Amino acid sequence: MPHAPMTPAEYWDKYKPYKGEGAQPAPQADRFDWTQYPGHGPGSEVLGRPLHALELGPAEGKEAAHLALQGVEVTGVDFSPVQVERARAWWRGTPGLSFAQGEACSYLSSAPAEYDAIYSVWGAVWFTDPEDLFPCVFKRLSPGGVFAFSQAEPVAGSYGPQQMWGKWLEGRERELTVLRWQYAPEMWADILKRHGFTDIDAHVLKAPEAGNLGTLMVRAQVPA
Ligand SMILES: C[S@@+](CC[C@H](N)C(=O)[O-])C[C@H]1O[C@@H](n2cnc3c(N)ncnc32)[C@H](O)[C@@H]1O
Repeated sequence: MPHAPMTPAEYWDKYKPYKGEGAQPAPQADRFDWTQYPGHGPGSEVLGRPLHALELGPAEGKEAAHLALQGVEVTGVDFSPVQVERARAWWRGTPGLSFAQGEACSYLSSAPAEYDAIYSVWGAVWFTDPEDLFPCVFKRLSPGGVFAFSQAEPVAGSYGPQQMWGKWLEGRERELTVLRWQYAPEMWADILKRHGFTDIDAHVLKAPEAGNLGTLMVRAQVPA
């Protein structure tokens, strides 16, 4: 009997599996990292001083937890039920922090809230068509609000939606492809400008050691 194809949310259910014994310990939330190199580059100051923030695709939720511990009211929305359940279990009791299960565009379109900052750390922004997502983000930011995201630096010349194989999956599940959107910094800046964002800064932050993968860093605002 043929299997139903795996959905993207099910794919992300399998992200960062725990192979240890007993309950998985929570990661440290003592820092806000935009890159995959702990302590490298800027931290939460990129977001300004928000009172209400939304993270798109937080998975483990450590950046959201870090912000909440600084007094920010934070919601993390992720469409993987497994990631949401794990984040809720780890950060239960953290004041001002909540996790919702949902697809980023649908959540932004349905929830009436307004945020001073919407951000994503190698998260949903990377895996969602910006032409669909950016208008939803724009509508939910307060005047002067910040939209910031990071992801792997793009491969030169491979722009637009790129297929990503399920490298950590097994058997036929590996056939599933998930798309991620890749553009050069100036291309991200053009897309943001076209959707009404201002004060745009898009650049690649080099890795701490030469030859390693850099990080695409993007920050923009809605007009005040
Ligand atoms: C690579 S993980 C990164 C998460 C985390 N920020 C980190 O650095 O470990 C991407 C996360 O984005 C979520 N995601 C991807 N596309 C999404 C979408 N359209 N809506 C909501 N969540 C999404 C996935 O479920 C996954 O948890």
